[in-house]
Amino acid sequence: MYIHETIAGLRAARRGAGRVALVPTMGNLHAGHIALMTQARDHADQVVATIFVNRLQFRPGEDFEKYPRTFEEDCAKLEAAGVDHLFAPDEAQMYPQPQTYHVEPPPEQAGVLDGEFRPGHFRGVATVVMKLFQIAQPDVALFGKKDYQQLMVIRNMAREFNLPIEILGGETVRAADGLALSSRNGYLSATERAEAPRLYRVLTELAAEVRKGGGNYPELEAKAMNILSLNGWAPDYVALRKKLDLQCPSAHDSGLVVLAAARLGSTRLIDNLEV
Ligand code: PAF
Repeated sequence: MYIHETIAGLRAARRGAGRVALVPTMGNLHAGHIALMTQARDHADQVVATIFVNRLQFRPGEDFEKYPRTFEEDCAKLEAAGVDHLFAPDEAQMYPQPQTYHVEPPPEQAGVLDGEFRPGHFRGVATVVMKLFQIAQPDVALFGKKDYQQLMVIRNMAREFNLPIEILGGETVRAADGLALSSRNGYLSATERAEAPRLYRVLTELAAEVRKGGGNYPELEAKAMNILSLNGWAPDYVALRKKLDLQCPSAHDSGLVVLAAARLGSTRLIDNLEV
């Protein structure tokens, strides 16, 4: 695997590389990331992974400083997964002067759900992803469905800017007890880790009720939030939305997803489940 720290280096490797798949990450790779690398391989001649902890998508007081940086281990995992190129720029390479232009996703997509609780987050994501797209010029790019809203924002950005890049989602990879794999799981204490799978159980139960039909959505959401609160969580939201645009469904809409974000101790976890 070739490791590129500069934009010029990656660009030189890109020339003549055939069909390229890009998998952007912030590192601290787990089986969910590796599944994306494997999926990427089916869609391209060359797989390019990126590792960059993007300051722009963290708010003051969030976990930018303590976000786990495990470069050596990550490289070994990417190598084993058969990734061809890793782009791992430092901050000066990505943001040589303060980034003054930004991609501003519309508030109806980026100001709801996670965007309501993390204002500016999706602007930071969209801006860095647009930069990574310009740098790597991939034919296809892959993002995990665990960050469902992020995937939607990126899909819409690619469509509205006419980017010649196919955006693909990868299924969420879960631990045996159902907890969605996430770098942030590493922040959990042993007791919190034992409690954490409740988030997925709550989503599974809510999805089952919706499939049965006849439920009142706001009541189901409130019930789920209540179960989490009673078990020591501080939920930001549990919300049933339309898959396509994450807007509120009416009673007869199909194609739904239930999304949740909740804090367990000082760790904020998110998860979702297509109904
Ligand atoms: O999902 C992530 O890890 C990040 O949000 C991404 C897409 C790499 C942008 O920094």
